[in-house]
Amino acid sequence: MDGSALPVNADAAPNNLEPFWMPFTWNRRFKQEPLLLASAKGMYYTSVEGEQILDGTAGLWCCNAGHRREPIVRAVQETVEHLDFAPTFQLGHPLPFELANRLSAMVPGDYDHVAFCNSGSEAVDSALKIALAYHRVRGDAARTRLIGRERGYHGVGFGGISVGGIVKNRMFFGPLLNGVDHIRSTHDLERNAYSRGQPEHGVEFADELERLVALHDPSTIAAVIVEPVAGSTGVLIPPKGYLERLRAICDKYGILLIFDEVITGFGRLGSAFGTEHFGVQPDLITCAKGLTNGVIPMGAVICRKGIYEAFTDWADETGQTIELFHGYTYSGHPVAAAAGLATLALYQEEQLFQRAADLAPYWEQAVHGLKGTRHVIDLRNIGLIAGIELESRPGKVGARGYEAFRKAFEAGALIRVTGDIIALSPPLIIEKAEIDRLFQTVRDVLQALD
Ligand SMILES: Cc1ncc(COP(=O)(O)O)c(C=O)c1O
Repeated sequence: MDGSALPVNADAAPNNLEPFWMPFTWNRRFKQEPLLLASAKGMYYTSVEGEQILDGTAGLWCCNAGHRREPIVRAVQETVEHLDFAPTFQLGHPLPFELANRLSAMVPGDYDHVAFCNSGSEAVDSALKIALAYHRVRGDAARTRLIGRERGYHGVGFGGISVGGIVKNRMFFGPLLNGVDHIRSTHDLERNAYSRGQPEHGVEFADELERLVALHDPSTIAAVIVEPVAGSTGVLIPPKGYLERLRAICDKYGILLIFDEVITGFGRLGSAFGTEHFGVQPDLITCAKGLTNGVIPMGAVICRKGIYEAFTDWADETGQTIELFHGYTYSGHPVAAAAGLATLALYQEEQLFQRAADLAPYWEQAVHGLKGTRHVIDLRNIGLIAGIELESRPGKVGARGYEAFRKAFEAGALIRVTGDIIALSPPLIIEKAEIDRLFQTVRDVLQALD
């Protein structure tokens, strides 16, 4: 742990960038002028050129405790040295059991079982499958419809893109899952621009669910899935009362509510999960990213009491030797589980969720300090998240955002853009001076941009 670059020859640019088909990337442009990271520590990446880059995005909303934290690295090293892999189909090893205990105990309310996987996308597909199968094992097999939301992001599996609502993520991939419908997004710039925390207007967007219930009949609807705060589509924060109303409508009709907490989990809002922050309890919670601080891929579905029992009761009654016909080779992988345990311990030891809550007012001031900056048409914030919406260039949606991203990197700050919305979500260890620097960089970049 000497702060040097990766053990491979990563401080030199690779000879050929071509074969790696990069995800969600403008490959042609990248390969002409690559941005390559060599190492990371705390709040900073170091580029292959040796430049320090302040991480304004916790990698990709993953590294909530900051980078290359010693206890997590050590846990990974020690585990891989004595248990590299062990199956979890009809046998096991202690680590995921311990992690499931810790994880379910972190969520206030009756959450008592956890299914593991390897990513947010897999967590979403697992949760959708659990929801469908739950109704079926209880003899309510007509409940097969899934409801998502416009502008929702639930990863890239077929389940996730079906319930998701980002046009480009869906339009290339055929008819997707049958029987999926969407409520509208809560984004309402006209009424809610420059909101601090939860916007005032828009609780009635939840009533869209009533419309779909009336259209399809409640007896056909299995589950509704939403992100408590939509991140990947540009930081859409739920209006006051909105999540509560969704919960009430789901209760009224026996529909399961799934919160996709892949980015809101692990302190991002100043509490362990969004469910705690908003005081609304879903039936299933998906998480990933911050579960291992991004060190080893891992995802999970946390289940409310009664879900797991429906499967075990069904298996008992029908004489099954498997209750849920779903799982991955790496569900509960020992090294990932060790990283998860070390990460949760670190969050606890350093009280990082509380730290995020304490910093949130300062963060909010910094976000709204950008008011009046060139191109900015909205600023919004919650916890340690900021959405900075820019006016798009006519006919060129995303061009200004992309340039802002590259210019910020050149200026020493990693920001994330989706279209022309900048989304910031730093590690929870960020200092006030670093918050100032991050926003000063964004301001300078925007003022200089066409
Ligand atoms: C809410 C949400 N769900 C699911 C995912 C997908 O996670 P992954 O990229 O790990 O598959 C993401 C990723 O950003 C996300 O933000």
